[in-house]
Amino acid sequence: MGDLRILGFAGSLRRASYNRALLRAAREQAPDGMIITIFDLIDIPLYNGDAEASGEPPAVARLRQEIRSADGILMVTPEYNHGVPGVLKNAVDWCSRPPQDAALARKPVGLMGASPGSTGTARAQSQLRQSFEFTSSYAMPQPEFLMARANEKFDAEGKLTDEPTRLFLQRFLRAFADWVRLFGPR
Ligand code: FNR
Repeated sequence: MGDLRILGFAGSLRRASYNRALLRAAREQAPDGMIITIFDLIDIPLYNGDAEASGEPPAVARLRQEIRSADGILMVTPEYNHGVPGVLKNAVDWCSRPPQDAALARKPVGLMGASPGSTGTARAQSQLRQSFEFTSSYAMPQPEFLMARANEKFDAEGKLTDEPTRLFLQRFLRAFADWVRLFGPR
């Protein structure tokens, strides 16, 4: 069985983002047989049907291509005003099209999120799950990865220092590997 190729992206553009740091931690903690590649959403323009009609913007074409060739997608979401930040929702919107051949269709997806607050992006993750109903993506139902009090879990360089979280991250990624394998190779 070959390596699982996972494409990861985080819905924050902030250099010191907890969610970007969490995604890097996931890349480090990936189990044997799983390779996580990170895609930076900074170059993805705002969705515009006119731009789409005149050809895919290059960054969108790259993202769609990388999603298509990945075995699974790992999305790491912050929570803004009890919802999904525009950066991530915008990327999902681009990759939900064209609806009959969407890059996200029938892709296994793992969801994680980090927040300094106490609910650890629970509401944002629930919202994202609703989007996956439309895109026909297969979001892993359990375990959930909700990182609360993220400000206490990384050092100044953005390295995950909280040992229980690191162990849970490993467990989560092993479960995600099993989930992705359920759907077979791309
Ligand atoms: C927030 N934050 C926030 N946190 C939360 O747990 N629930 C929320 O609804 C919100 N709402 C919210 C709105 C806006 C506009 C901002 C900028 C922030 C705080 C948020 O979790 C915090 O800024 C995180 O650090 C953002 O994630 P990154 O950038 O660290 O990955």
